[in-house]
Amino acid sequence: MTDIQRVVEEIAEEMRARPDRGEVATYIPELARVDVRQFGLAVIDTEGNVAAAGDCDVPFSIQSVSKVFTLTLALGKAGDRLWKKVGREPSGSAFNSIVQLEYEKGIPRNPFINAGAIAVTDTILSGHQPREALGEIVRFMRFLADDQNVHIDEAVAASEQRTGFRNAALANYMKAYGVLENPVDFTLGVYFHHCAIAMNCRQLAMAGRFLAQRGKHPVTGLSVVPPERARRINAVMLTCGHYDGSGEFAYRVGLPGKSGVGGGILAIAPGKASIAVWAPGLDAAGNSHLGRIALEALTRRLGWSIF
Ligand code: DON
Repeated sequence: MTDIQRVVEEIAEEMRARPDRGEVATYIPELARVDVRQFGLAVIDTEGNVAAAGDCDVPFSIQSVSKVFTLTLALGKAGDRLWKKVGREPSGSAFNSIVQLEYEKGIPRNPFINAGAIAVTDTILSGHQPREALGEIVRFMRFLADDQNVHIDEAVAASEQRTGFRNAALANYMKAYGVLENPVDFTLGVYFHHCAIAMNCRQLAMAGRFLAQRGKHPVTGLSVVPPERARRINAVMLTCGHYDGSGEFAYRVGLPGKSGVGGGILAIAPGKASIAVWAPGLDAAGNSHLGRIALEALTRRLGWSIF
């Protein structure tokens, strides 16, 4: 057994035993049904060695982790023009907050808060039918994960579509400022569905690998993005990937990371590995409680903090 596999198993064991599990998200009713006792962890290094433990094969709703991949696609389409529609500064406010949008004329602070991710989705849509844009996103995820089994959990998408009033407010607000180009219901439909992509930790770690290896696809070795873009996506993950918990995550874990309200976190150790952790209970900022604690233990034991 490798050192990494031993560490991953130890951490999964420790996390299983902990009584403090955080709270599952309840504002998306379908996510409220997920069993909070689950925990999965997968680490894939740049050579393709996999270390995994716990519920690493159980699919979960990746939610906002999908925003890393939609940002990658939108940058591929619009290049640096994307940054006219969305900023790249930490927000210091909650993931679904609306306050800054009025002060900043409908331009969201960064691509990872909900408003920013909706603007990014609008760029991918750019005049196409929602079905086509969604197909493109899912195909991209399957390509990166090297696995055709990545799918959208329709029950989660429908659940959020029924209850996503805050996101509808954010989208309409941006539409009023001319930041969104497509019909609001088209953009929101694609957004809700890409948030509802279901993956397990192994698939998600695999999909994130290009960010750990200077933009190169893990299997083909071809360029997914240029090295400079991979570096910049990692920078935005580090500064904005955990909303108003981003400072705490950088302080404790020391890696670029992106969380989702389904309890998943994708973390990147540049040049070393891609890591996916899943524990459905959240902290007060909406980030996985045990996910962050597990990543802190992992980076400490392996010496993987970038600082
Ligand atoms: O739009 C929402 O509220 C969810 N689909 C995604 C939010 C999310 O994952 C925030 N993450 N911690």
